[in-house]
Amino acid sequence: MNDHLGYLRRFVASPGQIGSIAPSSPFLTRAMLRGVDWGGMCTLVELGAGTGVFTAAIEAARLPESRFLVFEKEAGLRTKLQSRFATAELHSDAAMLRELVGDGGADCVISGLPFANFRPALRRSLLRDIRAALRPGGIFVAFQYSLQMRGELRGRFDEMDLELVLRNVPPAVVYRCRNRVAPECDPLPVALPGEPLAAGRPDERQPLAMRSPRQGG
Ligand SMILES: C[S@@+](CC[C@H](N)C(=O)[O-])C[C@H]1O[C@@H](n2cnc3c(N)ncnc32)[C@H](O)[C@@H]1O
Repeated sequence: MNDHLGYLRRFVASPGQIGSIAPSSPFLTRAMLRGVDWGGMCTLVELGAGTGVFTAAIEAARLPESRFLVFEKEAGLRTKLQSRFATAELHSDAAMLRELVGDGGADCVISGLPFANFRPALRRSLLRDIRAALRPGGIFVAFQYSLQMRGELRGRFDEMDLELVLRNVPPAVVYRCRNRVAPECDPLPVALPGEPLAAGRPDERQPLAMRSPRQGG
């Protein structure tokens, strides 16, 4: 219960960064990890670990000798994660993914990042980096509260499947994406002309989770 209150407090203080009102449910956690072939995962990445719901499940499933990089922007959460998961490599910003994964690449990137809250240019830049950081055949799994990311992900990955998880607050869509070949160049532009990475557009759509019920879909 305390965990949930703490989470809600964080959301109220920083809704754009936290992105959800409650930690992910066990149902969403299971859906996020479904289909991951743990025996073949040498380098795993989690983006936006928050309170460590997915982190704990990944930690329990991964090979002890695998490399596990965990990114969490909030310093307080990061400190707690590092003390709970001593063998994971904790880092602050998902924007450093490519650099920190290095040339070897990652077999799997699992994301709790609230992409829908990010400026379009930042979202595109993160997706480009994720795609580039994955080894051929690597898998990218993300969840969102809408289907808004469908086009962007389909344009970047060879394969994508979706799973709706109703038993989560709010209900979520899991996106599972895979590339068959090594990425050479990004198929979509990093930013539109005149669109700075850090600034938002006034007409940017609010994600479903942050809209009042009367605003609808
Ligand atoms: C929706 S929460 C995910 C929580 C957790 N994975 C779960 O499912 O309960 C999103 C998390 O992403 C973190 N975050 C946002 N932007 C980030 C960034 N650029 N790099 C790393 N973490 C980020 C936030 O601080 C927040 O803890």
